[in-house]
Amino acid sequence: MQKLSPFIPPPFIPLRVVQVIEDVEKEKPIRFTAQQLRTATDNFSVVLGSGGYGTVYKGISRNNNIPVAVKVLKGASDKTIEEQFIAEVSTMGRTHHYNLVRLYGFCFESSLIALVYEFMVNGSLDNHLFKSNKGVTIGFEKLHEIAVGTANGISYLHEQCPQRIVHYDIKPANILLDSNFSAKVADFGLAKLCNRDNSHITMTRNRGTPGYAAPELWMPFPVTHKCDVYSFGMLLFEIIGRRRNVDVTVSDSQEWFPIWAWNKYERNKLNEFMIDCGIEEKHEEVITRMLMVALCCVQYKPENRPMMSIVVKMLEGDLEVPEPLNPFSHLFSAVTEPDDSLARIARNGGGSEWSSSEALTTSTGVTGTSLMARYEITVATD
Ligand SMILES: Nc1ncnc2c1ncn2[C@@H]1O[C@H](COP(=O)(O)OP(=O)(O)OP(=O)(O)O)[C@@H](O)[C@H]1O
Ligand SMILES: [Mg+2]
Repeated sequence: MQKLSPFIPPPFIPLRVVQVIEDVEKEKPIRFTAQQLRTATDNFSVVLGSGGYGTVYKGISRNNNIPVAVKVLKGASDKTIEEQFIAEVSTMGRTHHYNLVRLYGFCFESSLIALVYEFMVNGSLDNHLFKSNKGVTIGFEKLHEIAVGTANGISYLHEQCPQRIVHYDIKPANILLDSNFSAKVADFGLAKLCNRDNSHITMTRNRGTPGYAAPELWMPFPVTHKCDVYSFGMLLFEIIGRRRNVDVTVSDSQEWFPIWAWNKYERNKLNEFMIDCGIEEKHEEVITRMLMVALCCVQYKPENRPMMSIVVKMLEGDLEVPEPLNPFSHLFSAVTEPDDSLARIARNGGGSEWSSSEALTTSTGVTGTSLMARYEITVATD
């Protein structure tokens, strides 16, 4: 597998400019043929994992011998796959940041629709936090760094790229770790581009993952980038507790970690909280900050949640964290006893009963050439 013939600069172009052009060329996603990806993955022999949209295989790009992860898309219909493909290529293909996974290339053929990402040697964060066959145990300082890195990646999507990108599916399985355990946010597949001035999006289909999805995603309320802030807060609780937020195997009071954490915080029992979470005393200041930030991020009202750039500063200790309001008061208002049905909905993120209304954007079918032209995609050749 080789690249297209290299760019041969006319003699009048200064070397500095040639260098820039070559760098830009390198950043564009490459188009692979199905055969090239079959060879790269040794006929799809090493499975890295699978999710809602397909299976991920390990491979080696013959272009430059770098390891890659190839996600073969599957869907209920050709239309779903096309939508997923367009969302992924149009957003990830143009977005580069240290804390975002790079889309290296893609394949769109009748026999194979696949996305090719840079390979993250330490897999996804969930494998290190929850699984019984946990990967390397990550120390507290590194976990804090991962939280900051993730927040940085999301902040870039929301506030720094030319068009705001809302991720919609922030969760530990979508945070990948490189060889230094640096966090890279993956899977913008559910993302939709929206104009900065027009920050309200009306949903057309299910988004996000139960347990991480913000209340407005399962209620008929307007949705903004603040839904990612909520999901990040839920992820932060899981980083702090090194456990899933919902765990039916522990005592009733700890079954839903965020509300247990709030109770400890409100009653000024941070010592107990740290002992139960197995956090050393020397980390008290940082863990308090992380807990307060998580509580700020999961506020019921989107307008009460901070911007992600503020979250980064608060996590790093550059900005004081305001006293969080009780994020769960809506579950208990009007009744003296907790409203169990509401609490259950909050824990599970509304299950599959999602509300929908009119569409903000409509997708068009993929035509290889126009899509490629629009997003300046390179073709790999044999
Ligand atoms: N670039 C990558 N490098 C290394 N491993 C990866 C990469 N991308 C994905 N994986 C592995 O493949 C697994 C499946 O990823 P996938 O995105 O298909 O599913 P998911 O994240 O669990 O769910 P979802 O479909 O909601 O994103 C991940 O959990 C991770 O372990
Ligand atoms: Mg994923």
